[in-house]
Amino acid sequence: MVLDDLAVPIVLAPLAGGPSTPELTAAVSEAGGLGFLASGYLSAETTRDRIEAVRELSSRPFGVNVFVPDDSSPDPQAVAAYRDRLRAWADQRGGTIGEPQTTDDDWDRKLELLTADPVSVVSFTFGCPSREVIESLKAAGSEVWLTVTNPDEAAEARGAGADVLVAQGAEAGGHRASFVDRPGLPVYGLLALLQILARTESLPLVASGGIATGAGLAAALCVGARAGQCGTAFMLCPEAGTSPAHREALRSGTDTALTRAFTGRLARGIRNEFMDEHSDRAPIAYPQLHYVTAPLRKEARERGDAGAINLWAGEAHQLAEERPAAEMVQSLAAEAREALETSRRLID
Ligand SMILES: Cc1cc2nc3c(=O)[nH]c(=O)nc-3n(C[C@H](O)[C@H](O)[C@H](O)COP(=O)(O)O)c2cc1C
Repeated sequence: MVLDDLAVPIVLAPLAGGPSTPELTAAVSEAGGLGFLASGYLSAETTRDRIEAVRELSSRPFGVNVFVPDDSSPDPQAVAAYRDRLRAWADQRGGTIGEPQTTDDDWDRKLELLTADPVSVVSFTFGCPSREVIESLKAAGSEVWLTVTNPDEAAEARGAGADVLVAQGAEAGGHRASFVDRPGLPVYGLLALLQILARTESLPLVASGGIATGAGLAAALCVGARAGQCGTAFMLCPEAGTSPAHREALRSGTDTALTRAFTGRLARGIRNEFMDEHSDRAPIAYPQLHYVTAPLRKEARERGDAGAINLWAGEAHQLAEERPAAEMVQSLAAEAREALETSRRLID
């Protein structure tokens, strides 16, 4: 099991949409943690190139994360009405709106790639792949990690043959990993979810959501996680591809919120003008709305306008630090040891 061989129980979260780079993945793996490469929004060819780039930088184990395609069909009228609303908003600001599209994020070809040329771990988000898919990746030599957000998803993931459960709490930055997006989904905080899964599941758990310090990591380990998966904490590292406007927002104390306004799927980001104006009107329609807002967000990133960018970040984003990823891994591990010793003294 990959987790048994890590020098430090730290996993780099896959960070699709810019922050994930081969340099960041390799740096975390080289420092003794487990680096992940995001394949979301990339073609199978680009994913292959990035895997090659990681291998050139490091011979340590690393993982690749894949989005499970969503086969639900959103209400076309609701999508059209939301698009009209965004068009009016974009017209006022001189921005461009895209067309709704349905894609499977190159699912079949990514699975072909990962079975033909396996990496140490393949993790999934947004759903539970079939038992056949999981078995074929395992037969190729990979471990399969499934991201879950509640006890029912954890039981389903176990039933499908997962090796490890990545428990994503409400604090987490970016999209909720839930198997389906629907109104009124349960949103468990990380500690509550870990405590429940530690009782109900025997699979190893990786904790994800709001872990930004060694003390946070220590708390997750105490509650039964075998490792902590950190995303936002690594987004200011020089190796990350985080845009300048996003970096500036991460350094601020602005709070975060869950929204469907940018992509049609619930995600946590730093509050900004776009989120505040559109969140209450956005329908559930992923990936359709991702494509509607993509040109607007790209333009905003290019001109450094944080008001119209999806500023994905976890609740503890103001604790992120600008330092090389290897240093971040080492200081998280050292702080976690210290926090565990302090806790021990308190209980003794
Ligand atoms: C910018 C960004 C992109 C993300 N992209 C992915 C992704 O591609 N796949 C995935 O499983 N999770 C993704 N996540 C969620 C992370 O895996 C993880 O759950 C989250 O970062 C943990 O919370 P934290 O950011 O507070 O550490 C993303 C999160 C952020 C902030």
